[in-house]
Amino acid sequence: MALSEPVHAESAVTLTPRSATDDDWSKMLRLDATSFGHVVDPASLAAWRSMIPAGGALVVEDGGDVVGQALYLDMEMTVPGGGRLPVAGISWVAVAPTHRRRGLLRAMLTELHDRIAVAGYPVAALTASEGGIYGRFGYGPATVQQGWSVDRRRVQFRPDAPDPGGVRIVAPAEHLEDFAERYDRWRANTPGGLARPRALWDDLMADRDGERGGGSPLFAFLHPDGYLLYRAHGEHAKYVRVVEKVAVTADADIALWRTLCGMDLMERIEIETHPGDPLPYLLTDARPVRTTASGDELWVRLNDIPTALQARSYGADLEVVLGVTDAFRGDVDRFVLRVEGGRAYCARTDAAAEVGLDVDVLGALYLGAHRASSFAAANRLRCNDSEIIGRLDAAFASEVSAELGFPF
Ligand SMILES: CC(C)(COP(=O)(O)OP(=O)(O)OC[C@H]1O[C@@H](n2cnc3c(N)ncnc32)[C@H](O)[C@@H]1OP(=O)(O)O)[C@@H](O)C(=O)NCCC(=O)NCCS
Repeated sequence: MALSEPVHAESAVTLTPRSATDDDWSKMLRLDATSFGHVVDPASLAAWRSMIPAGGALVVEDGGDVVGQALYLDMEMTVPGGGRLPVAGISWVAVAPTHRRRGLLRAMLTELHDRIAVAGYPVAALTASEGGIYGRFGYGPATVQQGWSVDRRRVQFRPDAPDPGGVRIVAPAEHLEDFAERYDRWRANTPGGLARPRALWDDLMADRDGERGGGSPLFAFLHPDGYLLYRAHGEHAKYVRVVEKVAVTADADIALWRTLCGMDLMERIEIETHPGDPLPYLLTDARPVRTTASGDELWVRLNDIPTALQARSYGADLEVVLGVTDAFRGDVDRFVLRVEGGRAYCARTDAAAEVGLDVDVLGALYLGAHRASSFAAANRLRCNDSEIIGRLDAAFASEVSAELGFPF
């Protein structure tokens, strides 16, 4: 007798998403905690809820229990060149382990993106728990995050490396306004930077035990053009884990790194940063900077391609017809993209496509963190003319490394 998969009594979707009500939130908290293994503090929940527009949260209910949930936050994201776009930030996505793989996520995202389209968000974004989920929904990984472990005791700055100074040790709770001012200047120029409302600053500065990951309370360094928040971890051999490093200028970045690396009793520094971080270039030997992880962070989906492509600036002139497929929303469309002097004109066209790609690939190119030629090599961007691919590389490159503003 052949072995077969057990057939689940409810293998098809029969449950429909609906808007969440106030009464659902205690059950949503339970599902979130079950899914992620972490209990969100009620005060923190209130901060995040303040960012959900009316009708922005969905649940799926079964027999009085919430078994699925997904929502979007009203956010604002910086794009290359400093333009800002309203962004629907997808978050709180969870399906109960008792109801997984029956299409609940797909049903919720379909309804949520209908609502996002009605609300007129040109771009949606998210951070993903797993890399294999969201490509099918038209999201592409648009920033690159690198995890570094720096063997601080072996770090030696080059004799010609700048030493700008200007860093103070401060009590974090007393300097929220200073951090926010520097953060705002940083995010205004950084693709992927997000407006951070006061409620989320208060949430970060609350520094609750449950958010410390076994580390110390927050410590802070302040520079006129940057700041750094970190925790100390470990018992005998202590090490630093950076919570947030924000530098508006190269000098601020170097000054903050020099201060961190000057902490004699800390064995190593762990940080999640980006490929443009200057530290390795400042050292006589870059090997103490070990990359321990490299991967995706912010995922982007372009809902309104002309609006999104016209909002950013470009590194080179270009004229091309893009044929973009979007299997999730059922669209295949062609767009002319004309770039002159850094600015773009983009509109639907009937002209033949010169480049074919899925909308998730366009999302991955959008902030300049990935190259068209890499996708072409993988046959995910199809074009017979290598010159056009080269021009796409040059046009979509961003002078400033894209980074996620903050996790959501
Ligand atoms: C990830 C999660 C939301 C999926 O929910 P689900 O209801 O089982 O998903 P669906 O049945 O609607 O699947 C939709 C599609 O995604 C795929 N998919 C679902 N989970 C996946 C995973 N973890 N990795 C890769 N693909 C996945 C399905 O195969 C299906 O593909 P198809 O429609 O193209 O055939 C659910 O497993 C979960 O809550 N996990 C824990 C919390 C979490 O990771 N949340 C996401 C936070 S970003």
